[in-house]
Amino acid sequence: MPNLLLDGAYRFSVAPMMDYTDRHFRVLMRQITRRSLLYTEMVVAQALHYSERRERLIDFDPCEHPIALQVGGDDPQLLAEAARIAADRGYDEINLNVGCPSEKVQKGRFGACLMAEPEQVARCISAMAAASPLPVTVKHRIGIDERDSYDELLAFVDTVAAAGAQRFSVHARKAWLEGLDPKQNRTIPPLRYELVHQLKRERPQLTIELNGGLLDLQSCEEQLQQVDGVMVGRAAYDHPLRWATVDRDLFDDSGAPIATASSVVRGLIPYAERWCSGGGRLWAIARHLVQVVEGVSGARHWRRDLGMAAGARDAGPEVFERAAMQLEERGL
Ligand SMILES: Cc1cc2nc3c(=O)[nH]c(=O)nc-3n(C[C@H](O)[C@H](O)[C@H](O)COP(=O)(O)O)c2cc1C
Repeated sequence: MPNLLLDGAYRFSVAPMMDYTDRHFRVLMRQITRRSLLYTEMVVAQALHYSERRERLIDFDPCEHPIALQVGGDDPQLLAEAARIAADRGYDEINLNVGCPSEKVQKGRFGACLMAEPEQVARCISAMAAASPLPVTVKHRIGIDERDSYDELLAFVDTVAAAGAQRFSVHARKAWLEGLDPKQNRTIPPLRYELVHQLKRERPQLTIELNGGLLDLQSCEEQLQQVDGVMVGRAAYDHPLRWATVDRDLFDDSGAPIATASSVVRGLIPYAERWCSGGGRLWAIARHLVQVVEGVSGARHWRRDLGMAAGARDAGPEVFERAAMQLEERGL
């Protein structure tokens, strides 16, 4: 079997984002890129232990492949169980969150604060790797608080790599665990791409993905000269169609179709039919469509019409049909 992590198949991924990268947004992104790796929002490993909540937390649509389940936790046993569940459910990868600085996550002693405990992360990774055949990967920061030297970053990566981590997705800014909230921790500490580049230079055998502040395909292409993969978060959510040529440009897939606003909306109809016929509300999907039409006259009107129609309790996929037709009439 080819090693998808190493042969460049995952050169681009859409970052895990709590409350944003739910299954509906991921299906939306699949209308734009077939090749990119998509991540779930972080799921706390302990929550997966309780089967009554499990379904809602990890269910996904088959069109979402390739898809990684991101988990949070610091207990090797619970994380091993999460890895088994991920494999049984058909996920393509399991990823451990060592980057989230929220107070709640810190109280649970996981997320970014685990950067201070590489040995514990290593125990978690080896338990996950032993429990399932899935690639186990890590998403982390370049440092936390005063532990922000390159040597500390390298020591963390070496320890975790020895335990079997197959990819390091590095958010290229450190996190201040006290004093900054999660949002500030995504903007205030400066981006230090050079540390991630150095990591790749000094550990060429490891698969290193760079994350943080990438706004367009050109900057991704530049980064790919130095690292194996790039991960984009906010710019993917805020401007999904900015990535319409990612399969062609970054994956050399010259036959990949180039999505338009109308093709995205139309492409979502079969999924919306499945979702609504299972009792789901259309709005859960429609809320993510707001950013699909931007920078053209009438965008605001289109969004308002969609919002009103899709917000109705009994709204069904016909709303998307109408919205797609409006866009097609305008050649969008
Ligand atoms: C609203 C929001 C929620 C996030 N939730 C998660 C999460 O669940 N797990 C995680 O590892 N990172 C999370 N992140 C961090 C992103 O994955 C990413 O590392 C960060 O936004 C930097 O990338 P960007 O500059 O491309 O957005 C979140 C970011 C945002 C904006």
